[in-house]
Amino acid sequence: MLSRKIAQSLLPLETPFYLYDMGLLRLTLESAVAMAARYGFVLHYAVKANYDPRVLKMIREFGLGADCASGGEVRCAIEAGFDPSKIVYAGVGKKDSEIRYAIEQGIFAINCESLEEISVVDRIASELGVKVRIALRVNPDIDPKTNHCIDTGQADSKFGISYEEILANAPLIQSYKNVEVRGMHLHIGSQIRELHVFEYLCNKVNVIVENLVGLGFTLDFVDVGGGLGINYDVPENEPVPNFASVFAIINSHLNVGGREVHFEFGRAIVGQCGELITRVLYNKTTATGRKLVIVDSSMTELIRPALYGSYHNIENITSDAQKSERYTIVGTACESTDKFDENVTLPETHRGDLLTIKSAGAYGQSMSSTYNLHPLPRSVYSDEL
Ligand code: LLP
Repeated sequence: MLSRKIAQSLLPLETPFYLYDMGLLRLTLESAVAMAARYGFVLHYAVKANYDPRVLKMIREFGLGADCASGGEVRCAIEAGFDPSKIVYAGVGKKDSEIRYAIEQGIFAINCESLEEISVVDRIASELGVKVRIALRVNPDIDPKTNHCIDTGQADSKFGISYEEILANAPLIQSYKNVEVRGMHLHIGSQIRELHVFEYLCNKVNVIVENLVGLGFTLDFVDVGGGLGINYDVPENEPVPNFASVFAIINSHLNVGGREVHFEFGRAIVGQCGELITRVLYNKTTATGRKLVIVDSSMTELIRPALYGSYHNIENITSDAQKSERYTIVGTACESTDKFDENVTLPETHRGDLLTIKSAGAYGQSMSSTYNLHPLPRSVYSDEL
């Protein structure tokens, strides 16, 4: 990844920080946009993955819309210059004030996740004297074959409305005067690497759309969510995710008439362009013989390993030691789960060395916190060095 090539210029910088390879982000966006154009697919970017202002700006300049998960994200997308007509808003727990704000901004669609939410959107739209475009977020009951912590479309999940509930309540949904159902939405999970899962998704969506249309819903668009995974094991082998394959699969299996097909990728767009650069503070060995490397970042900068047991490839970018060792890389936070990885083979590592924790562009900085009163991590951009 980029950090190794420019390690000497990173050495004097205050750590930790997120390094963004803006060239790689550009290449990724070029690929996503070109591949989607082959089939006329519409692309949204899931803002939750990373809302760094320069990252957002480049994504907007490539013409993507924004998929938002809160009123705050809708506001952030609008402030970053996204056209409200390209903003969608999903989320199981939208507050009245957030719904009101989104409606006032005239966003493309609110993706509703419960029958009760539809009634609230209808009431707020009526108070504002407008008719609001919504999509039904359907829970399709699909196993996305990913880490269970990040699947979202299985029957027992809190996300979406069960298909059966929609079928049983179609007349009620159609009776609302201030909402119109114009789309169907689903998102089955994240970090999907087994692409055949997208084939099952298409088979389910085909049936759902056909039945919804049969029940009298006029659907203009079908939003199949995000979820495309990235290569965390050896990111150098796949810096740009395989958009061509996923789009080809969707194109050949999805059968939804002439309806627009929308995607909302987060990780696949920004995951590989970000690295967390951290400095080694101390080495020590536990009574059990485990060699610890204590770095100057923690779960407050990157929570994914502590929260989901997620793997990030770690490299020492400044050591040229010939001898290597096996280390457990731990952070500064007062939590035993604050550990980036175990059994990492690195060249002999010392105080002052820089480590990169790779593939951290998605759900890294955006999930950072100030626990232990750590400052929020800053961004360093490759084209400003
Ligand atoms: N659309 C909806 C409705 C979503 O909930 C998500 C992600 C996306 C799109 C984007 O999914 P992606 O393309 O990034 O897979 N923090 C976790 C991931 C949580 C994903 C939440 N929803 C992680 O670090 O793995």
